[in-house]
Amino acid sequence: MCGIIGYVGSQNPKDILLDGLKRLEYRGYDSAGVAVFENGKSQVYRCEGRLENLERRLKEVQFAGHIGIGHTRWATHGAPNETNAHPHKIGAITLVHNGIIENYIDHKEKLLKMGRSIASDTDSEIVAHLFDIEVTRGLTLLQAMNTVLPTLRGSYAFVVMSEKEPELLIGVRNGAPLLLGVGEGENYVASDAQAVLHRTRQIVYLEDHQFAALTREKISVFNDRGEPLNHTVKRIDWSPEQAEKLGYRHYMLKEIHEQANAITNTIDGNIDHKRGVIACSELAFTRDVLASFKRIAITACGTARHAGLIGKSYFERFARIPVEVDYASEFRYRNPVIDSSTLLITISQSGETADTLAALREAKGLGSKTLSICNVRDSTLARESDVVLYTNAGPEIGVASTKAFTTQLVVLYMLSVEVGLARKTLTEAEAKELTSDLVRLPMLVESVLQKEDELEKIAIEYQADPSFFFIGRGCLYPVALEGALKLKEISYIHAEGYAAGELKHGPIALIDRSTVTIALASVDTPYSHLGTAYTTVLHEKVVSNIQEVRARGGRVISLVTEGNSHFDPISQHVVRMPRATWAMSPILYTIPLQLFAYYVALQRGTDVDKPRNLAKSVTVE
Ligand code: G6P
Repeated sequence: MCGIIGYVGSQNPKDILLDGLKRLEYRGYDSAGVAVFENGKSQVYRCEGRLENLERRLKEVQFAGHIGIGHTRWATHGAPNETNAHPHKIGAITLVHNGIIENYIDHKEKLLKMGRSIASDTDSEIVAHLFDIEVTRGLTLLQAMNTVLPTLRGSYAFVVMSEKEPELLIGVRNGAPLLLGVGEGENYVASDAQAVLHRTRQIVYLEDHQFAALTREKISVFNDRGEPLNHTVKRIDWSPEQAEKLGYRHYMLKEIHEQANAITNTIDGNIDHKRGVIACSELAFTRDVLASFKRIAITACGTARHAGLIGKSYFERFARIPVEVDYASEFRYRNPVIDSSTLLITISQSGETADTLAALREAKGLGSKTLSICNVRDSTLARESDVVLYTNAGPEIGVASTKAFTTQLVVLYMLSVEVGLARKTLTEAEAKELTSDLVRLPMLVESVLQKEDELEKIAIEYQADPSFFFIGRGCLYPVALEGALKLKEISYIHAEGYAAGELKHGPIALIDRSTVTIALASVDTPYSHLGTAYTTVLHEKVVSNIQEVRARGGRVISLVTEGNSHFDPISQHVVRMPRATWAMSPILYTIPLQLFAYYVALQRGTDVDKPRNLAKSVTVE
């Protein structure tokens, strides 16, 4: 949460900071601010609300300096108003912060006793005071790092500047992301590579407990004792164009449409074409290691956790290995029963979600081997895991996750085939069939995307309804959860996902004429090598569940396999999905739900790419 950008060079920093913040706004949009040095003095401009308010305020303002910092906020401590907006300027110090200082109240009490007046409700301002005290008593900013940082508890990333050293920026990382962009005669610091990639592809990732000093000519990295460290500059290949809207009205719509390509790119390089079988090139575990795991624990947050629930079905069916799936925020505090025979899989688009990272560290501490499925290269999660499998979805900017989710499913599918082969629960012929199925997937995704107009019409008809249930069975149950999450995230309509058979155990009390139920029911194409498509049985059971809804006056939209007419008499609308096998259905059924949520939100005039109260990357607990 919260986006940070800093610049030191010879250019006017105004556009660089505003442009960087625009690319970071998905991290939070409760307020925005910038500070620049003008004749050695820090000038701060802050606004409540979206970045455009700040842009408006700065329209006529000319900056003369060449160094500055910017921030876009997702409020944790203190209301989203101008006083709590960053940067915070205290005496000689100006600072932007992402994260939470857990012991800020202790510091605040001491500062008040010292007679300092505190303007905001934030933990961040307290840290600015602490730095100011140190530089006022004659320390350099670098020296102040060594005295202030050890007194802070929590997770944070800061960028700090001091009027006493107006050529210098200091960036600190501890539990929240921060990286450096290396330019020629200029340098950048940011919470996300996206903020600087259009200016430089040369990136230095800071590790926790490291800080960096940036001047125009040089970057230097230090450990928490202030000792200089060598640093590696990495080249990032995501082009800035990949992160533009390319004519789509919203990033979310663009990203929905990119799914066939994103899936192709994720599969690419992971098939042994000689054998015609999936072979994940990044899977650094040997077959023996893979076969040695007795169980798998999957942990993630939000949409990524829904991917994990579908992954559980894949692993259980193809590899016959027990799998548990947990919210990362729950996993880490429940003293999980895992050890070196457990493979811990974390799933995260950003690779920076605080709860997921903490779960990974907990599992490592307990001796588990760790594998992460990430979209953002070299993210913290990726760097700290034993093995990383990347989803090659390209940058995902819309806060509501779409292509990251479907590509996570593709990676889980490929991994489950690998584990199945290692455990010998899949034969080579079965793995071949599953592989050729996967290769056909992008084509099926394209055909589902053709249903956009149909989904838009349905969305227009139902956009004013107050309450939705999404139901499914088997691996379409997590898709129901994901469909409900998408709808509530971006349209603010109440929506719940349920296992279809569970509806009668309580939620059915809420069904009446005002509720809409979206039923997911596929009749899967049987595998030739893997036995029967048992979802045929499940689909009949969903028919019964829908009858129960209809009997109580509820309205129904059904998503069913083409050729299946069972739902026609009991549904207001039937969306026909292409024939596909069991494991492909969750990926395909997700897409109409994304489109439905998108068009409902569009009708309701919400901010689709930046829905209220949400952030793309949640780097606080
Ligand atoms: C936030 C986002 C969700 C996302 C979740 C996990 O809540 O709004 O869309 O699913 O974080 O993010 P991750 O980056 O770990 O996948």
